[in-house]
Amino acid sequence: MVEKEVERTIDALLEERREFEPPKEFTAQANANDPSIYEHAQKDPEAWWESQAERLSWSKKWDKVLEWNPPHQEWFVGGKLNASYNCLDRHLEESGDRIAYHWIGEPGDARSISYQELHAEVCKLANALKELGVQKGDRVAIYLPMIPELPASMLACARIGAVHSVVFGGFSAGSLRDRINDADCKILITADGGYRRGQNVPLKENADEALAETESIEKVIVVKRTTDDVAMSDGRDIVYSDLLESQSDKCEPEEMDAEDMLYVLYTSGTTGKPKGIVHTTGGYLTGVSSTHHLIFDIKPDSDVYWCAADIGWVTGHSYIVYGPLANGCTSILYEGAPDYPDKDRYWSIVEEYKATILYTAPTAIRAMMKWGVDYPQKHDLSSLRLLGSVGEPINPEAWIWYQEFIGAGKAPVVDTWWQTETGAIMISALPGITKLKPGSATVPFPGVVADVVDEKGEPVGPGSGGYLVLKRPAPAMMRTIFGDDDRYRETYFERYGDETYFPGDGARLDDEGYYWLLGRVDDVMNVAGHRLSTYEVESALVAHESVAEAAVVGRTDPKEGQAIVAFVTPRSGHEGNEDLSKELRQHVGKAIGKIARPQSIIFTDDLPKTRSGKIMRRLLRDVADGNELGDVTTLQNAPILDEIKKKADSQADDKDDK
Ligand code: PRX
Repeated sequence: MVEKEVERTIDALLEERREFEPPKEFTAQANANDPSIYEHAQKDPEAWWESQAERLSWSKKWDKVLEWNPPHQEWFVGGKLNASYNCLDRHLEESGDRIAYHWIGEPGDARSISYQELHAEVCKLANALKELGVQKGDRVAIYLPMIPELPASMLACARIGAVHSVVFGGFSAGSLRDRINDADCKILITADGGYRRGQNVPLKENADEALAETESIEKVIVVKRTTDDVAMSDGRDIVYSDLLESQSDKCEPEEMDAEDMLYVLYTSGTTGKPKGIVHTTGGYLTGVSSTHHLIFDIKPDSDVYWCAADIGWVTGHSYIVYGPLANGCTSILYEGAPDYPDKDRYWSIVEEYKATILYTAPTAIRAMMKWGVDYPQKHDLSSLRLLGSVGEPINPEAWIWYQEFIGAGKAPVVDTWWQTETGAIMISALPGITKLKPGSATVPFPGVVADVVDEKGEPVGPGSGGYLVLKRPAPAMMRTIFGDDDRYRETYFERYGDETYFPGDGARLDDEGYYWLLGRVDDVMNVAGHRLSTYEVESALVAHESVAEAAVVGRTDPKEGQAIVAFVTPRSGHEGNEDLSKELRQHVGKAIGKIARPQSIIFTDDLPKTRSGKIMRRLLRDVADGNELGDVTTLQNAPILDEIKKKADSQADDKDDK
């Protein structure tokens, strides 16, 4: 983020000064209600994390808590455990009948699955995977809608020590192909399709297209979710239910080392190639179980917890699958869109299932604000006792609306900052202890050591903007980038040295040590809480025959956080008009996924460049946001900016007219 933007954001945040002490009744029953937890963790972070690792069941205890060879870290060295055992088996004796997931399909079908039932399904699939030749360490790609078979597939992999790579169902064939190839996956688990806003998402068709350009996949397991007929390739494709039919519902969990890989999950970086973030078993499970217990104040006996993210993103991995299941709680798993069939879908689910905790993204909250309070007010939301937010900075206005209209003015709102790379929440309130300030993610979780520093790594102190850093390892942190440890070092540690993790976010500290997150400082955009690199979208655009050059920036958007704006120079013989704009949007949707389609495309004969030919995105961002232009003295072709600005302004006027 450029400095001017940072200042503006700080000014806006400073205007919001309301504070909320934890309600007494909440504190009285909270899992975390003793503030000395912070002191203990600060004095001896390793002892703290060790106490959290004890929440899990280990088949062999670790010999050493932390082995830190910066920039690498290993946790609970020598310890052995299995993630699926921790998420399922250990709950069976006392609470096998407890519901693990109340699953709700978008068309209205629903199913509640107990821990016992989920365990049986996971064992059957684990046995089937073994029969198909999957061995410990092999990678399995999963491309499924939000159906119970998705967590079951992840846990089946974990059970036999295979590494899962879940690819979000909204991604295109091309994105799936690249992820399968990068991790060299052996098996793909997909579905005939899924439902989204009443439409059928053709997952199998996309998968077939992806598989035409992958060599590693030996078998494809296809869950029947829709009634559509899909092509099945003889000898390669197997129907999920047929495969499970003959399998035993018992399968010994594989004993895994704490540092064995649990999964890889791809996320956007600043280049065109997504990074395969590697998470291991013991530290990751410790981090997600501990944060889920303390931040969401989970009471497995009575809570109905709902994280409304998609499992295809890290939020779903950590706070729909591994955290909640490790803690033995009951979750809601909803397949579809918040506005289908109407804009009160979430609230009818909360009412029907008496959800007690809701965790969602600012972009969803802002959409609901726009739809109006009539929708939530039609429903009884009195069961909700705690609310969470994740994925992007939440503006104070949305925070207050969420607390007021969804939380009846009394439910604490925990704004949780973290990333695919950190695996678990790093900055958040503990709702029974921490005073809340709308717009601030508050303070680092116990055992997490953070700071805000300047370019040189010097702490900026209270009041000014700077860069967020993490100064100590934490167990759920990524271990490396799959197959590319150099990129791991360069991306996260080159800037401040091997001991200081640089997440790529701007932040400000206030005089009480609260963190105010200010958004990304690199070329990563955050669209509706999803990460995309400008470069990825540019690569997709220039791959189109009519595009000579493209520059992409994120424009501040009141609903989505950021919206994608593309500046495109057409090749000679091609005209930049509405038809081409439509075609390019479709093209990007097909190349990456619908979320990556630019909201606006501005055609221009040239792009603003420095004398060395570097595109000045900073200036394009100013144009997109309608701000005064920054310094243009280093430009080799300054006049082009006026032209671009005129076009952008006239597009904005067109939009206003509509
Ligand atoms: O910029 C931060 C933003 O989302 C980025 C991480 O994106 P991803 O890996 O896709 O994970 C999203 C879900 C954990 C961060 O670098 N971000 C996430 N949570 C917050 C946030 N920004 C401000 N406040 C948050 N609570």
